[in-house]
Amino acid sequence: MTKPRLYSGIQPSSDSLHLGNYVGALLQFRAMQGEYDAFFSIVDLHALTNAAFDPKSLAAASRGLAAQYIAAGVDPGKSTLYVQSHVPAHAQLAWVLNTITGFGEASRMTQFKDKSQRFGAEGTTVGLFDYPVLMAADILLFDTEVVPVGDDQKQHIELTRNLAERFNARFGEVFTVPVGQYPEEGARIYDLQEPTSKMSKSAATDAGLIWVLDEPSVTRKKIMRAVTDTGAEVKYDWTTKPGVTNLLEIYTAITGSSVADAEAVFAGKGYGDFKRTVADAVIAELEPVRARALELLADPAELDRLLALNAARANEVAEATLKRVYEAVGI
Ligand code: ADP
Ligand code: NA
Repeated sequence: MTKPRLYSGIQPSSDSLHLGNYVGALLQFRAMQGEYDAFFSIVDLHALTNAAFDPKSLAAASRGLAAQYIAAGVDPGKSTLYVQSHVPAHAQLAWVLNTITGFGEASRMTQFKDKSQRFGAEGTTVGLFDYPVLMAADILLFDTEVVPVGDDQKQHIELTRNLAERFNARFGEVFTVPVGQYPEEGARIYDLQEPTSKMSKSAATDAGLIWVLDEPSVTRKKIMRAVTDTGAEVKYDWTTKPGVTNLLEIYTAITGSSVADAEAVFAGKGYGDFKRTVADAVIAELEPVRARALELLADPAELDRLLALNAARANEVAEATLKRVYEAVGI
């Protein structure tokens, strides 16, 4: 029996992933890799669209991300874990998809509008504009059925589905039309200092972010300093207690316990005890991941060997799809 195909990607745009990426992406990927034929990409071509990317550190960031995927339990013997630029068909298919994407359609992408505001006139490149089309190519290359992504990617997944259907209608049935799979409310982690904003590497300050590769002592300090409220009760309520609720969310996501059980654990305890227990849980989870990632990074040649093996498998599938596409459009 063949397993359904899954594709997802993460940009190598910082040295370390944060806890939001870990909970929202890596833990999901690890859980899904048994049921699916999974392709996990380190999307370095996408990273080139960031106004501030550093050519001197991009290759190292890709290796670092590979190490974190593996350390978190993504098995490169089971799943296909590879670097996007090692598979030329991504860029080749994106070009073909460009020719069936409406300019107005691409102009409606809200992530482009948000990023172009942040990046300014110089940072707003054609590449940034075209990001969703490259993302559509990423997904369609692998006959992907399921795409686990954050709900901020819904519009891009819709575009991908529209492009696949349009191509199939015009040139014949070439593409599988994928569906997005969005995490439940639960899997979203917020900034420790600003618990109404999503934890994100583009946050203004570092104090609200927990990095997977942070030293445990740094992680503990950040959690102990997390914003709470003037009350004293550990209760799950995003409206009146976002800081406390975010810490509960982190705790339940990591320990697998229910909100009700967690509330019971912390009933009658002060915020200090609560935070200490959350910090213990986060450190117990991340410390082995950090240690394993650093161990993998100490042998870059072995990591590169694994990535090359995985890229070969990705290329096999991607080239076959590209061949069908080229034939369909008559080239
Ligand atoms: P960032 O917002 O830091 O730029 P990305 O957009 O690169 O993060 O996200 C990479 C992956 O991590 C995506 O699958 C996304 O859904 C997930 N993710 C990012 N931030 C969070 C968060 N705060 N909570 C849960 N998942 C997140
Ligand atoms: Na983002």
